[in-house]
Amino acid sequence: MRQKIVAGNWKMNTTLQEAQKLTAEVLGMAGEANSNIKIILCPPFPYLQTVKNQLGGSGIDVGAQNCNEHQSGAYTGEVSAQMLKSMEIPYVIIGHSERRQYFHEDGKLLAQKVDGALANNLKPIFCCGEPLDIREAGEHEELVKSQVEESLFHLNAEAMKKIVIAYEPVWAIGTGKTATTAQAQEMHEVIRKHLASKFGNDTANQIPILYGGSVKPDNAKELFACPDVDGGLVGGASLKSRDFVDIIKSA
Ligand code: 13P
Repeated sequence: MRQKIVAGNWKMNTTLQEAQKLTAEVLGMAGEANSNIKIILCPPFPYLQTVKNQLGGSGIDVGAQNCNEHQSGAYTGEVSAQMLKSMEIPYVIIGHSERRQYFHEDGKLLAQKVDGALANNLKPIFCCGEPLDIREAGEHEELVKSQVEESLFHLNAEAMKKIVIAYEPVWAIGTGKTATTAQAQEMHEVIRKHLASKFGNDTANQIPILYGGSVKPDNAKELFACPDVDGGLVGGASLKSRDFVDIIKSA
């Protein structure tokens, strides 16, 4: 059985006080959900330690939203995987479409970030997904396969087993427009088969592939019921504790 995961990506949202309140609320309601589901909260960098402390021994994990590809050095304003490791942060999102789009991160750079994260015992949540024009041109499968190839195919199978993949079609992020279950399942299967072609079935079948893009309490259940959808990476709805916990309950 693959690990089911629901992760909340808070992006550049919340004040410290709001982050503490949101964490406390999720913590208070998390007991409603099946304890086999791995819950991960990804707050902004400055709140990681606070949120981590608050979560204590609850079993809910924290993740960072990004890391720099270098170990340390003169990179003002950046945060390294080594720093996250020293804080015992278990997960880090790598290659979110907003980082690809606004910070011009490409597949080669993301491969370096993946390597840096793994070298520091962090589990990367590697994001892939196509923009609307690529979907409309019918080139989404090729693009997503190439994103996975560029940043993950240099790994060996053992390292690959530490990766979580999030398929997030860019046209579904923050738009209220969700992929249909057929579209989600189709792409998750494409990704899994592509992983199998490189790493073998055994490895491919162990890798959680999360769906992201306007996941809400009213669509989560059917998305998570798809055989190759192993949970979700949730943006907007993860900022509302009730919605987020209802999404977790759908997994
Ligand atoms: P929304 O859930 O707000 O569409 O964001 C998805 C996302 O980008 C999660 O990383």
